Amino acid sequence: MIIGVPKEIKDHETRVGLVPSGVTALRQAGHEVLVETHAGEGSSITDREYIEAGAAILESAAELWGRADLVVKVKEPQPAEYPCFRPGLILFTYLHLAPQPELTGRLLAARVNGVAYETILESDGSLPLLTPMSEVAGRMAVQVGAQYLERPYGGRGILLGGVPGVAPANVVILGGGVVGTNAAKMAVGMGAHVILIDRNLNRLRELDDIFGGRLVTMASNSYTISGSVLPADLVIGSVLIPGASAPKLVRREMIASMKRGAVVVDVAIDQGGCFETSHATTHTDPIFLVDGVLHYCVSNMPAAVPHTSTFALTNATFPYLLELANNGLEGACRTHAALRAGVNTYNGYVTHSGVAASQGREWRELAAVE
Ligand SMILES: NC(=O)c1ccc[n+]([C@@H]2O[C@H](COP(=O)([O-])OP(=O)(O)OC[C@H]3O[C@@H](n4cnc5c(N)ncnc54)[C@H](O)[C@@H]3O)[C@@H](O)[C@H]2O)c1
Repeated sequence: MIIGVPKEIKDHETRVGLVPSGVTALRQAGHEVLVETHAGEGSSITDREYIEAGAAILESAAELWGRADLVVKVKEPQPAEYPCFRPGLILFTYLHLAPQPELTGRLLAARVNGVAYETILESDGSLPLLTPMSEVAGRMAVQVGAQYLERPYGGRGILLGGVPGVAPANVVILGGGVVGTNAAKMAVGMGAHVILIDRNLNRLRELDDIFGGRLVTMASNSYTISGSVLPADLVIGSVLIPGASAPKLVRREMIASMKRGAVVVDVAIDQGGCFETSHATTHTDPIFLVDGVLHYCVSNMPAAVPHTSTFALTNATFPYLLELANNGLEGACRTHAALRAGVNTYNGYVTHSGVAASQGREWRELAAVE
């Protein structure tokens, strides 16, 4: 197979979909690898390193998309990349299609076979390609939240951990999965008062054991959410219903009743966000205010720390990429149910029920349209 690695073009996206060790392994398995020039620059990987690993460097993104059988990326394609779509192309990347009907329509019209990192689902219920970036984003959420709570950044001017004699900040985390747990680790470590809310009681039991009383767990309902969000200094949104739009847990009226200068970090924004007032922002222009509450809604947070994120991501994606390259999409999906769950679009059909439900589209089982 010919594997193409374009340079990411989303705002401040400095990660890359394949590192030189992956190029070497693909070459050893008999594949050809094309890398767009400067694709690794943001993660401090030079064209020379890719060449030494066995890749060919291409100057033109259009040529790369045109020649590759499989394009491996990090973020969902941007409008400038839509003209590169063509029938039969395998696209292996984060797609986050639920809130993106236009991109979905383009993939369907061009009959691109889109395999989304975020819906690859292992039999134990884990989402292995979401996990590493969720670990990064969860840890970052507290870091950025603490920064925006500082007065010069527009926040109410409170130190997360307080000091002896002065109470710490109130941090509320909505969703205790990978993002939420990693955020909790940071927030607890910084000395904040932390409430974590999830709808899964078994998850709350596990977290209660892990944190041993250093945070408060609460079952998710509108009563516990409004009771904790109103006095909060920092609220982190980290819920997920795989493949579907995030539930709007915090309504506009709740935001209006929060303290002026409080901060919300909506990590779940890539699935539409769990605050009614959220809209996606970029690293160039990361925040906006609604009723005096700062909203940070960057949909590619890990791009800010590419040295950590590129390697964490490709450690997780590479085994699946190799399987796709060795067996083709259909062959790999026949033997690997986790990969099958990752196929969101195939030959002009939506093949993921969550994506279809979010957009009111029809969907088909992959096996029915192969
Ligand atoms: N913005 C970014 O840069 C970025 C980076 C990484 C991940 N994310 C996103 O963060 C979100 C969370 O990812 P994750 O890996 O932690 O997912 P996860 O599946 O590990 O955790 C999600 C949690 O949400 C809980 N949940 C679902 N509905 C709920 C509700 N109504 N009330 C309370 N809890 C509820 C689930 O029980 C689960 O524990 C995803 O949308 C993911 O795509 C964003």
